Amino acid sequence: DDAEAAMSFSIRNAVVGDLLKIQNTNLHCLPENYQLRYYFYHALSWPQCLWVAEDHRGNIVGYVLAKMEDDNGNKDDPPHGHVTSLAVLRTHRKLGLATKLMNYAARAMVESFNAEYVSLHVRESNRGAFHLYNQTLNFETTEVEKGYYADGEDAYAMRRILTRDVVGLPSQKRVLAAASLPEALAAQQAAKANAAKKAEAAAGGGGGAAKAA
Ligand SMILES: CC(C)(COP(=O)(O)OP(=O)(O)OC[C@H]1O[C@@H](n2cnc3c(N)ncnc32)[C@H](O)[C@@H]1OP(=O)(O)O)[C@@H](O)C(=O)NCCC(=O)NCCS
Repeated sequence: DDAEAAMSFSIRNAVVGDLLKIQNTNLHCLPENYQLRYYFYHALSWPQCLWVAEDHRGNIVGYVLAKMEDDNGNKDDPPHGHVTSLAVLRTHRKLGLATKLMNYAARAMVESFNAEYVSLHVRESNRGAFHLYNQTLNFETTEVEKGYYADGEDAYAMRRILTRDVVGLPSQKRVLAAASLPEALAAQQAAKANAAKKAEAAAGGGGGAAKAA
Protein backbone atom coordinates (compact mmCIF):
# COMPACT_ATOMS: atom_id res chain seq x y z
CA ASP A 1 0.00 0.00 0.00
CA ASP A 2 2.87 2.34 0.80
CA ALA A 3 4.36 1.64 -2.58
CA GLU A 4 1.03 2.36 -4.21
CA ALA A 5 0.65 5.64 -2.30
CA ALA A 6 4.14 6.62 -3.31
CA MET A 7 3.20 6.24 -6.95
CA SER A 8 -0.06 8.15 -6.79
CA PHE A 9 -0.17 11.74 -7.87
CA SER A 10 -2.83 14.30 -8.26
CA ILE A 11 -2.89 16.96 -10.91
CA ARG A 12 -4.58 20.13 -9.76
CA ASN A 13 -4.84 23.81 -10.56
CA ALA A 14 -2.08 25.75 -8.84
CA VAL A 15 -2.93 28.42 -6.30
CA VAL A 16 -0.92 31.47 -5.31
CA GLY A 17 0.38 29.60 -2.26
CA ASP A 18 2.16 27.14 -4.60
CA LEU A 19 4.18 29.75 -6.46
CA LEU A 20 7.34 29.65 -4.33
CA LYS A 21 7.46 25.86 -4.64
CA ILE A 22 6.89 26.09 -8.37
CA GLN A 23 9.71 28.59 -8.67
CA ASN A 24 11.90 26.28 -6.64
CA THR A 25 11.09 23.32 -8.89
CA ASN A 26 11.91 25.47 -11.89
CA LEU A 27 15.30 26.39 -10.38
CA HIS A 28 16.08 22.68 -9.91
CA CYS A 29 15.10 21.67 -13.43
CA LEU A 30 15.79 24.42 -15.96
CA PRO A 31 18.29 27.13 -16.81
CA GLU A 32 15.42 29.51 -17.70
CA ASN A 33 14.32 31.07 -14.43
CA TYR A 34 11.96 33.90 -13.61
CA GLN A 35 11.35 36.39 -10.86
CA LEU A 36 8.56 35.48 -8.47
CA ARG A 37 6.47 38.35 -9.79
CA TYR A 38 6.34 36.67 -13.21
CA TYR A 39 4.75 33.60 -11.57
CA PHE A 40 2.25 35.89 -9.83
CA TYR A 41 1.49 37.54 -13.16
CA HIS A 42 0.56 34.14 -14.60
CA ALA A 43 -1.41 33.01 -11.54
CA LEU A 44 -3.39 36.24 -11.28
CA SER A 45 -4.04 36.66 -15.00
CA TRP A 46 -4.68 33.08 -16.15
CA PRO A 47 -5.13 30.91 -13.04
CA GLN A 48 -6.81 28.30 -15.26
CA CYS A 49 -3.52 27.71 -17.11
CA LEU A 50 -1.33 26.91 -14.12
CA TRP A 51 -1.21 23.26 -12.98
CA VAL A 52 0.84 21.22 -10.54
CA ALA A 53 1.46 17.54 -9.95
CA GLU A 54 1.46 16.70 -6.27
CA ASP A 55 2.58 13.51 -4.54
CA HIS A 56 0.66 11.80 -1.73
CA ARG A 57 2.47 13.95 0.84
CA GLY A 58 1.47 17.18 -0.87
CA ASN A 59 4.91 17.87 -2.35
CA ILE A 60 4.91 19.51 -5.75
CA VAL A 61 6.81 17.28 -8.18
CA GLY A 62 5.95 19.04 -11.43
CA TYR A 63 4.27 22.09 -12.88
CA VAL A 64 3.19 23.74 -16.07
CA LEU A 65 3.22 27.52 -16.21
CA ALA A 66 1.18 28.73 -19.15
CA LYS A 67 -0.64 31.81 -20.30
CA MET A 68 -2.76 33.26 -23.01
CA GLU A 69 -0.67 35.16 -25.53
CA ASP A 70 -1.26 38.85 -25.77
CA ASP A 71 -1.87 39.64 -29.42
CA ASN A 72 1.03 41.84 -30.40
CA GLY A 73 -1.21 44.20 -32.29
CA ASN A 74 -2.09 41.35 -34.65
CA LYS A 75 -5.85 41.19 -34.45
CA ASP A 76 -6.06 38.41 -37.06
CA ASP A 77 -4.25 35.96 -34.82
CA PRO A 78 -6.84 33.75 -33.11
CA PRO A 79 -6.72 33.40 -29.32
CA HIS A 80 -3.87 31.11 -28.39
CA GLY A 81 -1.98 29.92 -25.38
CA HIS A 82 1.74 29.78 -24.70
CA VAL A 83 3.64 27.45 -22.39
CA THR A 84 6.14 29.54 -20.47
CA SER A 85 7.67 26.67 -18.52
CA LEU A 86 7.21 22.97 -17.83
CA ALA A 87 9.20 20.72 -15.54
CA VAL A 88 8.95 17.50 -13.59
CA LEU A 89 11.43 16.58 -10.86
CA ARG A 90 14.10 14.15 -12.07
CA THR A 91 12.89 11.54 -9.57
CA HIS A 92 9.40 11.60 -11.06
CA ARG A 93 10.04 11.61 -14.79
CA LYS A 94 8.68 9.18 -17.39
CA LEU A 95 5.50 8.59 -15.42
CA GLY A 96 3.36 10.60 -17.78
CA LEU A 97 3.10 13.62 -15.47
CA ALA A 98 4.28 16.19 -18.02
CA THR A 99 1.82 14.80 -20.57
CA LYS A 100 -1.02 15.17 -18.09
CA LEU A 101 0.00 18.67 -17.00
CA MET A 102 0.19 19.81 -20.63
CA ASN A 103 -3.19 18.32 -21.45
CA TYR A 104 -4.90 19.92 -18.46
CA ALA A 105 -3.47 23.31 -19.41
CA ALA A 106 -4.52 22.85 -23.04
CA ARG A 107 -8.06 21.95 -22.03
CA ALA A 108 -8.32 25.04 -19.82
CA MET A 109 -7.07 27.25 -22.65
CA VAL A 110 -9.87 26.00 -24.88
CA GLU A 111 -12.56 25.88 -22.23
CA SER A 112 -11.89 29.28 -20.68
CA PHE A 113 -10.36 31.28 -23.51
CA ASN A 114 -11.36 29.54 -26.77
CA ALA A 115 -7.71 29.02 -27.64
CA GLU A 116 -7.17 27.65 -31.14
CA TYR A 117 -3.58 26.60 -30.62
CA VAL A 118 -0.83 26.55 -28.03
CA SER A 119 2.78 27.45 -28.73
CA LEU A 120 6.10 27.00 -26.95
CA HIS A 121 9.87 27.11 -27.38
CA VAL A 122 12.22 24.23 -26.72
CA ARG A 123 16.00 23.99 -26.87
CA GLU A 124 17.31 22.21 -29.91
CA SER A 125 19.32 19.89 -27.63
CA ASN A 126 16.40 18.98 -25.35
CA ARG A 127 15.55 15.64 -26.92
CA GLY A 128 13.32 14.46 -24.07
CA ALA A 129 11.09 17.51 -24.17
CA PHE A 130 11.08 17.49 -27.98
CA HIS A 131 9.91 13.88 -27.96
CA LEU A 132 7.15 14.74 -25.49
CA TYR A 133 5.94 17.65 -27.60
CA ASN A 134 6.38 16.15 -31.04
CA GLN A 135 5.55 12.47 -30.52
CA THR A 136 3.21 12.40 -27.54
CA LEU A 137 1.42 15.73 -27.79
CA ASN A 138 1.38 16.30 -31.57
CA PHE A 139 3.16 19.63 -31.62
CA GLU A 140 4.59 20.70 -35.00
CA THR A 141 7.78 22.70 -35.39
CA THR A 142 6.87 26.02 -36.99
CA GLU A 143 10.24 27.74 -36.95
CA VAL A 144 13.82 27.54 -35.75
CA GLU A 145 14.63 30.68 -33.80
CA LYS A 146 18.36 31.27 -34.05
CA GLY A 147 20.10 32.18 -30.79
CA TYR A 148 16.81 32.36 -28.91
CA TYR A 149 18.32 31.36 -25.57
CA ALA A 150 20.63 33.52 -23.45
CA ASP A 151 23.57 31.16 -24.12
CA GLY A 152 23.02 31.37 -27.87
CA GLU A 153 21.31 28.01 -28.40
CA ASP A 154 18.60 27.82 -31.05
CA ALA A 155 14.98 27.17 -30.17
CA TYR A 156 12.36 25.18 -31.98
CA ALA A 157 9.16 27.17 -31.98
CA MET A 158 6.38 24.60 -31.78
CA ARG A 159 2.63 24.68 -32.02
CA ARG A 160 -0.24 22.33 -31.28
CA ILE A 161 -3.63 22.91 -32.85
CA LEU A 162 -6.34 22.77 -30.21
CA THR A 163 -9.97 21.93 -30.72
CA ARG A 164 -12.62 20.98 -28.20
CA ASP A 165 -12.29 17.45 -29.49
CA VAL A 166 -8.51 17.34 -29.15
CA VAL A 167 -8.67 18.42 -25.50
CA GLY A 168 -11.55 16.08 -24.65
CA LEU A 169 -14.36 18.59 -24.32
CA PRO A 170 -17.86 17.87 -25.64
CA SER A 171 -18.04 19.29 -29.15
CA GLN A 172 -21.15 21.32 -28.47
CA LYS A 173 -20.44 24.27 -26.24
CA ARG A 174 -23.22 24.57 -23.68
CA VAL A 175 -23.82 28.26 -23.17
CA LEU A 176 -26.66 30.15 -21.68
CA ALA A 177 -27.37 32.59 -24.50
CA ALA A 178 -26.81 36.13 -23.31
CA ALA A 179 -30.27 37.14 -24.56
CA SER A 180 -32.02 34.50 -22.49
CA LEU A 181 -30.31 35.48 -19.26
CA PRO A 182 -32.58 38.43 -18.33
CA GLU A 183 -35.61 36.28 -19.19
CA ALA A 184 -34.38 33.47 -16.99
CA LEU A 185 -33.82 35.90 -14.12
CA ALA A 186 -37.26 37.47 -14.59
CA ALA A 187 -38.90 34.04 -14.57
CA GLN A 188 -37.01 33.13 -11.41
CA GLN A 189 -38.13 36.33 -9.70
CA ALA A 190 -41.76 35.82 -10.76
CA ALA A 191 -41.69 32.28 -9.37
CA LYS A 192 -40.28 33.56 -6.08
CA ALA A 193 -42.90 36.30 -5.81
CA ASN A 194 -45.60 33.77 -6.57
CA ALA A 195 -44.34 31.40 -3.88
CA ALA A 196 -44.19 34.25 -1.35
CA LYS A 197 -47.78 35.24 -2.18
CA LYS A 198 -48.94 31.67 -1.70
CA ALA A 199 -47.15 31.39 1.63
CA GLU A 200 -48.70 34.65 2.77
CA ALA A 201 -52.14 33.50 1.73
CA ALA A 202 -51.65 30.20 3.55
CA ALA A 203 -50.51 31.97 6.72
CA GLY A 204 -53.24 34.60 6.82
CA GLY A 205 -55.92 32.78 4.91
CA GLY A 206 -57.62 30.88 7.71
CA GLY A 207 -55.53 27.71 7.87
CA GLY A 208 -56.04 26.32 11.38
CA ALA A 209 -52.40 25.39 11.80
CA ALA A 210 -51.29 28.89 10.87
CA LYS A 211 -53.60 30.45 13.41
CA ALA A 212 -52.50 28.15 16.16
CA ALA A 213 -48.88 29.07 15.57
C1 LIG B 1 10.66 17.26 -20.37
C2 LIG B 1 9.99 16.79 -19.09
C3 LIG B 1 9.06 17.88 -18.59
C4 LIG B 1 9.19 15.50 -19.37
O1 LIG B 1 8.50 15.15 -18.19
P1 LIG B 1 7.94 13.66 -17.94
O2 LIG B 1 6.91 13.75 -16.87
O3 LIG B 1 9.05 12.76 -17.74
O4 LIG B 1 7.25 13.36 -19.35
P2 LIG B 1 6.22 12.17 -19.62
O5 LIG B 1 6.40 11.09 -18.63
O6 LIG B 1 4.85 12.75 -19.74
O7 LIG B 1 6.74 11.67 -21.02
C5 LIG B 1 6.04 11.89 -22.21
C6 LIG B 1 6.75 11.25 -23.36
O8 LIG B 1 8.03 11.84 -23.56
C7 LIG B 1 9.04 10.83 -23.47
N1 LIG B 1 10.19 11.35 -22.78
C8 LIG B 1 10.20 12.03 -21.62
N2 LIG B 1 11.48 12.30 -21.28
C9 LIG B 1 12.26 11.76 -22.25
C10 LIG B 1 13.65 11.71 -22.45
N3 LIG B 1 14.50 12.25 -21.60
N4 LIG B 1 14.09 11.09 -23.57
C11 LIG B 1 13.23 10.54 -24.45
N5 LIG B 1 11.90 10.56 -24.30
C12 LIG B 1 11.44 11.16 -23.21
C13 LIG B 1 8.41 9.73 -22.67
O9 LIG B 1 9.04 8.52 -22.94
C14 LIG B 1 7.00 9.75 -23.15
O10 LIG B 1 6.91 9.15 -24.41
P3 LIG B 1 5.68 8.22 -24.81
O11 LIG B 1 4.44 9.09 -24.72
O12 LIG B 1 6.03 7.79 -26.18
O13 LIG B 1 5.67 7.13 -23.79
C15 LIG B 1 11.05 16.46 -18.00
O14 LIG B 1 11.99 15.61 -18.53
C16 LIG B 1 11.74 17.67 -17.41
O15 LIG B 1 11.25 18.30 -16.46
N6 LIG B 1 12.92 18.03 -17.98
C17 LIG B 1 13.67 19.17 -17.50
C18 LIG B 1 12.93 20.46 -17.77
C19 LIG B 1 12.60 20.64 -19.23
O16 LIG B 1 13.37 20.32 -20.11
N7 LIG B 1 11.39 21.18 -19.50
C20 LIG B 1 10.94 21.46 -20.83
C21 LIG B 1 11.46 22.76 -21.26
S1 LIG B 1 10.83 23.22 -22.86
